[in-house]
Amino acid sequence: MSTSYFDEIIEKRRSNRKFDANVEVPNEVIQKSLERSILSPNSSNMQLWEFYWIQTPSLKEQFTALCLGQNAARTAKQLVVFVTRGDLWKQRANWNLARVKETIQGEPDKMQKRGLDYYSKLMPLAYRSDMFGFFTFVRRTISFFMGLNKPFFRLGGKADQRITVHKSCALAAQTFMLSIAAEGFESCPMEGFDSNRVKKILNLPAGAEINMIIAVGKATPEGIWGARNRVPYNEVVFVK
Ligand SMILES: Cc1cc2nc3c(=O)[nH]c(=O)nc-3n(C[C@H](O)[C@H](O)[C@H](O)COP(=O)(O)O)c2cc1C
Repeated sequence: MSTSYFDEIIEKRRSNRKFDANVEVPNEVIQKSLERSILSPNSSNMQLWEFYWIQTPSLKEQFTALCLGQNAARTAKQLVVFVTRGDLWKQRANWNLARVKETIQGEPDKMQKRGLDYYSKLMPLAYRSDMFGFFTFVRRTISFFMGLNKPFFRLGGKADQRITVHKSCALAAQTFMLSIAAEGFESCPMEGFDSNRVKKILNLPAGAEINMIIAVGKATPEGIWGARNRVPYNEVVFVK
């Protein structure tokens, strides 16, 4: 197989921790990359994510401390906070439901009926939660009995819901970083931050969570900390 443009992007994307102070990253690069991120695959198209593009200089300055003094945050020309919004499940389910309804003229066909059921019944079943764990119990019980004799989706509790939304948000973050590389700039994803304080400064509700913060700028050689070491292919890829 020949080397493609996609390989170039994959090779080029490295986490850079020191960005060139003299090179700005145009806002169009970030906007385009966020537009691409929004097109990322995501669980049930629920889009339980938000992207906070930090443009206010005084706010951006505070992110150096919030990112525990990391050089990538300090030298970043642009910063985007990737946030999960599991708490918005009802709004997003209704939004999707409305998209399905828009396509219906007269009697719904089989696909449309499936769409209606999916967003009005299955999503509430998957995402609803309460402080006593009642809905988790219901979900686990349904999965247990339905899965006794045949494969069945293993519905779970709060932790499973959080994994679901973080998976999708991280895919958006990856799209963003590949896009940044394609536009000729570099990035550094960060999970080293004070999540409580980041939530507070962004006025986020309790149900929101910080997935990662991505610093963007023009790379410097000092920003690369070493060789791109990876565990060999044969140790992580299993053909069954
Ligand atoms: C979820 C996530 C969190 C990360 N957090 C940090 C971080 O806080 N600080 C940092 O310098 N690098 C961070 N990284 C970057 C990784 O260290 C880096 O991706 C890894 O060493 C592989 O190097 P490469 O990105 O250059 O291929 C993070 C990466 C991911 C995916």
